[in-house]
Amino acid sequence: MPQFVDTLRSVLQFQPRESDADLRRLRKAANVEDLRTMARRRLPRGVFDYIDGGADAEVSLHRNSQAFRDLEFKPRVLCDVASIEISSQLLGRPVAAPFALAPTGFTRIADPQGELAVARAARRAQLPYTLSTLSTRSIEEVAAANSGSKWFQVYMWRDRTVVKSMLDRAAACGYEAAMLTVDTAVFGKRDRDARRGFALPPKIGPSTLIDGALHPRWTLDLLRNEPILFSNLIGADVSDGTEAVQLADISAQFDQSVTWDDIGWLRDNWQGSIILKGIQTVADAELAASHNVDAIALSNHGGRQLDGSPAPITLVQPVAEAVGGNIDIICDGGIRRGSDIVKAIALGATACTIGRAYLYGLAAAGERGVDHVLEMLRTDMLRTMALIGARTLNDLTPGLIAQHHP
Ligand SMILES: Cc1cc2nc3c(=O)[nH]c(=O)nc-3n(C[C@H](O)[C@H](O)[C@H](O)COP(=O)(O)O)c2cc1C
Repeated sequence: MPQFVDTLRSVLQFQPRESDADLRRLRKAANVEDLRTMARRRLPRGVFDYIDGGADAEVSLHRNSQAFRDLEFKPRVLCDVASIEISSQLLGRPVAAPFALAPTGFTRIADPQGELAVARAARRAQLPYTLSTLSTRSIEEVAAANSGSKWFQVYMWRDRTVVKSMLDRAAACGYEAAMLTVDTAVFGKRDRDARRGFALPPKIGPSTLIDGALHPRWTLDLLRNEPILFSNLIGADVSDGTEAVQLADISAQFDQSVTWDDIGWLRDNWQGSIILKGIQTVADAELAASHNVDAIALSNHGGRQLDGSPAPITLVQPVAEAVGGNIDIICDGGIRRGSDIVKAIALGATACTIGRAYLYGLAAAGERGVDHVLEMLRTDMLRTMALIGARTLNDLTPGLIAQHHP
């Protein structure tokens, strides 16, 4: 019997119960997929599907992540990895790690603080935050919440005076880069949204009433806080003025006649760095470099625009061989672990950007959920580098990566 008590005592371990429900939840989240599961429980299905879903048959959405899993490491051992450094330079400025936060419109549907929560977490992690044109917190509000590195995402709209005025506001607020999204001549078709009748700004109607009632915390948050609007467009003349700007007003603004010549317009109206987001071929990467932009984001909009577009990670090496050194190369789409970032850097990317990964964290546990994701990605990177024998980002080379053939 005393033996039994001793053994029991040696194996029993009670942690004090965490009183904060968000922190309790985060303790159990080992990875981004766990946070996605939590987000699915907390959000109405329509909202979750808007964030989680992709265009058409969602082939590109799934390929974006699968293409990372199809890459294997060729790890080296006995390399003295006692000290590992992942701080880096992006657009000529220091960053704590080679990744940044991609623009995601309508962030307040995931959490009432929305873009402010994400921008604050990015600032704490010393990573650049990109504010979407279609954000639910304004250029000025986000700048007040984040004195660190910020980029502003724009579309080339028909009404250039609206774009120009947003660029001027971003410049006045210290945003360092304009990220022009070029994969959105028209909106992609998202089958999940069509099926659920999902609308932006969100509406509670007969089809969404039950969905909202089943997620009372989200619904109460929605009703308790100020209306969710396209904050940057309040007062801008892009709707018929009868009600707040709707998504249909936005899609009517997309200028389908834009060409490479219009990059000149952006140059003339923006003094900071320029990033082209949505490059999907080597040929367009070369054109971008010849138009003297500072960076390109290899991206298919997280599989939300053209279904059947290539997974960005598959473009990194050929694009780096074509234009690397002349221009920063960002790999955007499908990143769920720090090891994905290590793979992209090894193949020649300067940095990566993440979208859904931080949105799942935000939806699961608010601002601390975003902190948790950024910290997981950073520690994943350090662990992966130790295990493959790389001390610095310069040690990451294509020789460390192989295509996995099942
Ligand atoms: C809910 C949501 C909203 C998005 N909104 C925008 C946007 O307003 N502008 C833009 O350029 N990209 C937008 N994107 C695309 C992201 O910037 C990024 O390219 C994509 O999320 C990367 O893929 P990942 O989610 O797999 O990381 C959005 C993505 C999501 C998931």
